[in-house]
This record gives sequence, structure tokens and C-alpha cells, in this order.
Amino acid sequence: MPRLFWIHGSGYTPDSFRDQVAAFPGSIALTLPGHQDGGEPLTSVGALADWLAVKVRAANGKSGPAVVAGNSLGGAIALEWALRHPNDVGGLILIGTGARLRVSPAIFEMLDTKWPDSIPAFADYSLSPSASPELHRRVEAWHRQVGQHATRADYAACNEWDIMERVGEIKAPTLIIVGEFDKLTPPKFSRFLHEKIAGSRLLEIPGAGHAAMTESPDVVNPEIKEFLKRI
Ligand code: COA
Repeated sequence: MPRLFWIHGSGYTPDSFRDQVAAFPGSIALTLPGHQDGGEPLTSVGALADWLAVKVRAANGKSGPAVVAGNSLGGAIALEWALRHPNDVGGLILIGTGARLRVSPAIFEMLDTKWPDSIPAFADYSLSPSASPELHRRVEAWHRQVGQHATRADYAACNEWDIMERVGEIKAPTLIIVGEFDKLTPPKFSRFLHEKIAGSRLLEIPGAGHAAMTESPDVVNPEIKEFLKRI
């Protein structure tokens, strides 16, 4: 079984994959540089993809290609990594992401002029309308822990990135998952990935939002198990 890595999205932490780390023993949830380590965040998806390549090779040793699962910015990093380092890729799991992630000016305003009062609105963007108050508190906590500077760097990296023309070059086995109510990376973005990545599987989860793995682990985890069995 290839080694499995999880990469969180903008303003999130590895806690967003807590239910997956518990369900897939031996898997590794990475923390992006400059998030909770006192360092500086990396400012482009390309730089983050090369950082991922180093992490994967270091942890994977000689055990062969790895599977990387990413949410949102994490999915962008996984896709860019697959384009830059195809021989390292055993599979991709793309949760709430896309081939281009332009960021609404309203989000930059929330970051630049309304932080930290805007943190609850980031949780609203991340979750479906029926998410529990407890889930809202959890998503808010990620943003508080990551802070304004790194969250802004994450969104800026997303905004500059675009592989709409190149995504069809990806040949790795790919599972694409998106929540019905994903407002940050709408299902249309995942359908585009599915169209372009030959042989990919698309799962749209009724009732889930952008952080579908956090909101619907009972649907997401068995799907990932099946995918891993097949590759
Ligand atoms: N996959 C497929 N289609 C995509 C896409 C993707 N990843 N990204 C953009 N598109 C489509 C758009 O739907 C749009 O199609 P349309 O002309 O048929 O409406 C077209 O490509 C152009 O979109 P975009 O480049 O995003 O520019 P825009 O000026 O239309 O919209 C935003 C800019 C920010 C308003 C819009 O991207 C958006 O609402 N994004 C979601 C909210 C957000 O900020 N998310 C954060 C992402 S981390």
C-alpha cells in the first residue's frame, strides 16, 4: 500500500483531516510551512509543490510512489506536485479544489480589513448550511491558530495559480470529491477536473460543504478506502 499524505487548505490545519488520520493508520497529515511553526509561509503553489516533493521523498523512503490527498489549496498543491513530479505519484485524492482557484475580492477584504471578526464568516464559507455549531467552532479554531498572515498567503497563492490548460497531462489514478454546498470551490470546478483527468472518479457528496472530509467522514472515508484498494 503506498504511503498516504493529507494536505490542508487555506487557513486550515491538519485537524481538518483528523477523522482520516484516525481511519488510515500510518498516513501523515502535513502542516504547511509558516503555519503554527513561527516561520514564513511559502507564497506560490509551485514552491509548495516542491516543498511537498521533498517531504514525500523524505517520509516515503524507498517504498515507491505516494498517494497525496489535498483539500482546496492542498488539492492545488497535490495537482501541481503531480505535474512537476509525475514519477513520485501513486494517486491523487482531490477534495474541494479545482484547476484554477481565483479568490473573490470579498475574501481579501475579510482578510485585510475585518480580521479577526471575519473568522466566523470563513467557517460559514467552509461548511454547509446544516453544519453544527461544534463544527463551526472547530473551523474557526483552525483560522485562529493559523492567523491572518499565513491565511492571507494561502489565499494569495491560490489566486495566482492556474493549471486549466495543463491538468489533462495528469495520468495518475485520481479520486475527486466535492460537497454539494461547496461555496469556495463549487462542484463545477470538480466536474472540470473529472472531465480532464482520464479515468478519474468523481464523488459529489449531498449535504456537505467545502471541508467535506471534516463534515462527512462517514461518506468520504469508505470511498477513499475503495480507491486505495483499486490502485
Ligand atoms: N474549474 C472550472 N471552471 C472554472 C474554474 C475551475 N477551477 N475556475 C473558474 N472557472 C470558470 C468560472 O466558473 C467562469 O465561468 P463562466 O464564465 O462560465 O461563469 C470562468 O471560468 C472565469 O472564472 P474566474 O477566472 O474565476 O473569474 P471570474 O471573474 O468569473 O470570478 C471569482 C472570480 C473570484 C468571483 C470566482 O472565481 C469565484 O466565485 N470563486 C469562488 C469563491 C472564492 O473566492 N474561492 C476561493 C478559492 S480558494
